[in-house]
This record gives sequence, C-alpha cells and structure tokens, in this order.
Amino acid sequence: MSLMPRLSNLLKNNRHRNGTVAVLDIGSSKVVCMIAQSDGSSQPVIRGIGQHASHGIKRGEVVDISQLSLAVGKAVEAAERMAGISIDQVVVGISGAGQRSNIRRHHVDVATGEVIERDIRRLFRLDFDYPEAEGRVNLHRLPIQFTLDQVGGIRNPLGMFGQTLGISICAISASSAALRNIQMAVERNHLQIEDYVSNIYASGLSSMLEDERDLGATVIEIGGGVTSLGYFVDGQLNYLDSVPLGGASITNDIARGLSIPVDEAERIKTLKGSVLAATGDSDEMLTLPMLGHDKSMPLSVEIGVLGEIIRARVEEILELLLMRLEKAGYSAAAGQRIMLVGGAAQLPGMKEFTATMIGRSVRVGRPSGVIGLAEATGGAAFASTIGLIQYSFNDHLLEPTLADATPAGRTRRFGQIGTWFKQYIWDAGSR
Ligand SMILES: Nc1ncnc2c1ncn2[C@@H]1O[C@H](COP(=O)(O)OP(=O)(O)OP(=O)(O)O)[C@@H](O)[C@H]1O
Ligand SMILES: [Mg+2]
Repeated sequence: MSLMPRLSNLLKNNRHRNGTVAVLDIGSSKVVCMIAQSDGSSQPVIRGIGQHASHGIKRGEVVDISQLSLAVGKAVEAAERMAGISIDQVVVGISGAGQRSNIRRHHVDVATGEVIERDIRRLFRLDFDYPEAEGRVNLHRLPIQFTLDQVGGIRNPLGMFGQTLGISICAISASSAALRNIQMAVERNHLQIEDYVSNIYASGLSSMLEDERDLGATVIEIGGGVTSLGYFVDGQLNYLDSVPLGGASITNDIARGLSIPVDEAERIKTLKGSVLAATGDSDEMLTLPMLGHDKSMPLSVEIGVLGEIIRARVEEILELLLMRLEKAGYSAAAGQRIMLVGGAAQLPGMKEFTATMIGRSVRVGRPSGVIGLAEATGGAAFASTIGLIQYSFNDHLLEPTLADATPAGRTRRFGQIGTWFKQYIWDAGSR
C-alpha cells in the first residue's frame, strides 16, 4: 500500500471550486466529518456534520486502527445522513503524526537577467526534487518570500532585474508510518483520502483576522491530546510545532490530583474549571465522589485547588511550546498577536493567563468563512475542521503544485497553467 501520490497535487488547485467537499478532522478527543458545498463564488455552506468520540487515537497518534476506523465510520455516516448524500473521498486533517516544519531555501541563476516565470518554476522544481528525510512525507510547501541577490522580502519578483533568485519555503512534513495508520483506518470505511492537511495550518486559515494576517500571529491550538503552535507571518505559516499534551492531560491531572474517576474529572473541568482560580480566592467548594471509596461519603475541596491543577499543566504546555519556538529563532512576544483555538482554549481564564505569560494581546479564536454552522459546532474546537473546508475550497491557498514546478509548455496538457502564479502573484497585485 502506498501513500496517496502527491501527483494529485496537480489537481489540487481549483479541484473543488464548484461542488462538494468532505473533510475529516481526526482528533484525539473527537472525530468530525463535515460535508460542504460551494458554488465557487460565495462562502461554502455546511450541509452535513457528524461527530463521534475518538477511539484508538492518543496524543494525536493512532494506537488502534480498528477502533479509530469505527469512530471515523460513525462520524462520516452521521454527516452523510444530515447532508443526504454519500461521500467516497475525504480531505483529512491531522494534529499529530509527527508534524514538523523546515525552512528550505533554493537559488537559481536568472538566465536572462530579468526574472521570468520559468525561473520561479525552476525554484519550485528544486523544492519538489528535495529529498524528504527517511520515513517522512511532505504535507505542504508554503512559499514565504523571494530574494533577489541580497534583497529579501519580495512577493512578486517577475520582471525584476538581478542575478540570483532565491525562495524560502516552509515545508511541512509528517511521519509516513503515522499517516499510513490513519489511511488504514479511513480506507476501511471505503473512503479515499484526497489529501492530508496540517490541522494547525487549517486553524490559521479559518480563524485569523485581517490584522493577524497582516501583522503576524501565533496560533496555539489546545486540543485534547495535542497542543500545536503555528507561527504566521504575512498570513503564511513559517513554523509549526506541537507537544503531545492537551485537555486530556489536564483531565488526567484532575483525576489523579483529586482521586476521582476520569469521566468525573472531565465533567468538573468543563463545568467548573478555570485557569485562574487559586486557593484562598473563593469559598466555593466542589463536591467530589471518591474513587473506590464509599460513595455516600463525598469529599469536598476548595475550587481553587482545581484551578491550581489546571494552571500547572497549562503553564507547562505553553512553556514547552514557547521554549521550542524561541529555539527555532522566533518569538511569540515579537509584535505578534496570539490566538488560541482548540477545545481546551475554552477554559475560562485561558486568554488572561496566556497574556500574562507571554505579555501580548491574546484572544480566543472563532472560525469564520463558512455558512450554516450551529453554535455548538462553530467554536474554537472546530477551528481546524472549518479550516479544512476552506483549504479544500482553495481560499487563501497559496501552495505551488507540481504543475507550477514544470516548464509551462509541459503543463498545458493538464490545462493547469500557472495556477499558483495566478493566485500568488497576479492576484496579489490586485489585493
Ligand atoms: N468548554 C470547555 N471547557 C474546557 N475544556 C473543554 C471545553 N470543551 C472542550 N474542552 C476540552 O477540549 C479538549 C478537546 O479539544 P479538541 O476538540 O480541540 O481536541 P481534538 O481535536 O479531538 O484533539 P487533538 O488534540 O488531537 O487535536 C478536551 O480535553 C476537552 O475536555
Ligand atoms: Mg484537533
């Protein structure tokens, strides 16, 4: 069995401009399937949503293919029923799978002294030919900027004069073994995978506001099993990272710390949890059932104790991510807005606590750009799912395809001349 050939990238652009798309967001807490339609001119309309508790996936990694496959089947079935159509292919969003980003730089000599389309195609070709490390598969190649001789920050080098044209590309890769496990679970439901998409990238697409696109944003997605960070500059992802910790770690800490069952800890967390509550702040007491003890003798603890347990874990997660961000040469405190998404971002006090830690303007994101979402499925927990729809319909999609890395004469056969050029360069001029 081989992974979906990346040659399908040839058809990536415009493939869903008019029509229907089904996306599958495979998380550690929930599997969500959404079916959306678009006429190509207005925002996609959600026709069906199906959601099921995740099984067989922990901290973003598949641990039981059969269980995951069942959860996928249930989510897809529910979405199909609601939409009144059946689907046979899906775009799959992933939060774990060992995703990493790498900045790759390529250079070519400008043959004529003036940059023409062919020079850019040669740069892309270098990137498509770039060997991925053993066991890794490319998910995205996102152009960041062009350089011409010593000058950087060029968006559109066409028609400019210089000797050496360079490009920086943010390449996102994932573990091929991890993707294969996901593929197995999905294909057991007789579904083809059209594409794999990085969830944090998708969340950025769906939830960044105009000024965040312009000024840069650090998007932090606190999910169930994974917390991911995406560093966006000029609306483009420059760096991503993740730690295999999230809302489920918080729940487990509560269960352990208060000696209560995990499902009770989850209930208390979502009902009464806060990142800010501290002991001594309030007289409010929590009544807890005791694990394995006489249930007629409930225990009570100060609500601040719950807050301290939650805060310790949130602090650890954010600290780990920020340390890695800094090590990679970026700083979340450098003029960047911070946006929180993911289910656990909804914990009261998360925004304030993050702001205190990083010292920047922080908000909890809300995905937008689609029509027909109920309140319950439109919040921060669905940022990546909705981003997958936008990705699929090509909104903001600025990825070169193999067709863009091929001399123009050869791509004509596919009727795909310069799709990337049109979106990235020509449309950029009119923005
Ligand atoms: N209102 C809420 N308050 C606090 N926590 C919440 C709330 N709603 C959801 N959560 C927590 O969010 C987590 C699930 O987040 P999310 O749905 O983003 O995860 P996922 O996409 O399934 O997993 P992954 O981490 O693999 O992306 C759970 O730990 C859940 O307890
Ligand atoms: Mg998720």
